[in-house]
Amino acid sequence: MEKKLQDKVIVITGTTSGIGAGMAKLFAKHGARVIGSGRREEKGQAVVEEIRREGGEAHFVRTDVLEQDQLKHLIDTAVELYGRIDILVNNAAYEPTKVFAENTYEDYRKVIDTNLGSYIMASIYALEHMRKAGSGKILNINSVTAEQVVPGVGMYAIAKAGITNLTKIIALEYAKEGIRCNEINPGLILAGAFEDPKVVEWAHDAIVNGTPVGRLGTIEEIASAALYLLSDEADFVNGTSFYIDGGRRLI
Ligand SMILES: NC(=O)c1ccc[n+]([C@@H]2O[C@H](COP(=O)([O-])OP(=O)(O)OC[C@H]3O[C@@H](n4cnc5c(N)ncnc54)[C@H](OP(=O)(O)O)[C@@H]3O)[C@@H](O)[C@H]2O)c1
Repeated sequence: MEKKLQDKVIVITGTTSGIGAGMAKLFAKHGARVIGSGRREEKGQAVVEEIRREGGEAHFVRTDVLEQDQLKHLIDTAVELYGRIDILVNNAAYEPTKVFAENTYEDYRKVIDTNLGSYIMASIYALEHMRKAGSGKILNINSVTAEQVVPGVGMYAIAKAGITNLTKIIALEYAKEGIRCNEINPGLILAGAFEDPKVVEWAHDAIVNGTPVGRLGTIEEIASAALYLLSDEADFVNGTSFYIDGGRRLI
């Protein structure tokens, strides 16, 4: 098998479950040195152990992305361990359900700071090292809600819309320095909330009728697109929003 990320040092936020765990495993199979993170230490370590059992290289750094010292420490750990950070994947997210006007100040801060603030600050911390090295890639795991607003998750969608401009500004300002930035916008994926069969039942109409392809996407479908965007094959791809949503944004 051709290894598309051989020896690349990759930091991912939120590898304790779902899409983040799936990307960590796939990237490690492709030769990456993965530094995963999240708050649930046991789950994060279990992913690391699975990767190591398969012969891959991975570490887990317990990180709450809302804590700046922890987020910076996560990025700096890559540099301490390997002398560089080649790739940052921003993926950690928090998606509470609440109609817009019911959000408190605390709700607003938590949703925006987790979903957008952590992407902004992790990128700033990583760019410091990438710019010194003269190369790097940042991939933001965004959402179809960046474009398609859904009632009940408005605050999350506001944060996700911000990620699109974050992606564009990094792509624009740092391309000449050898740094690329792209985003993936998943639709409804069998991960996170959709791992609960009750949520799948509740969202039946959105899955079958609200998604032209008529099914949930898979973690593997997102991870393989991420692999492409981070590989050398995608070196001319910059500032792109890659919607993997079964056409959901068109409805
Ligand atoms: N599943 C979908 O249908 C779907 C659709 C569109 C977009 N997405 C996007 O895909 C990405 C991954 O989501 P998922 O579906 O895989 O959900 P998930 O399984 O719930 O994963 C979310 C990850 O974020 C981490 N996280 C949340 N808050 C954190 C915090 N304060 N500090 C550190 N880590 C934190 C969680 O780790 P800990 O709990 O251990 O901290 C977990 O690893 C997100 O950006 C999400 O918006 C998913």
